[in-house]
Amino acid sequence: MEKIKVEICCGTACYLLGAAKLMNIEEELPENLKDKVDIQARTCLGLCERDHLGGAPYVKFNDTEIMGNASVEKVLSRLNQLVEGAEQS
Ligand code: FES
Repeated sequence: MEKIKVEICCGTACYLLGAAKLMNIEEELPENLKDKVDIQARTCLGLCERDHLGGAPYVKFNDTEIMGNASVEKVLSRLNQLVEGAEQS
């Protein structure tokens, strides 16, 4: 299975609104996710100016899916869904 790409925005807006915590997510990954995700820090993803996306901090999955108002819990939960989905297909 290809690793799930997770881009965490560390631009100013996202950083101030919680991305600092998200940066530690790698240490909080449960065993079942550890070798399945590729976590990268990014400068402003250009999403913070688009209000309708949920608000900073933003995380992007696999270049396509955007999560606004991201938290460690939300990201871990989405990763579990993505891994389960990939394992079933
Ligand atoms: S600072 Fe995160 S999208 Fe701009």
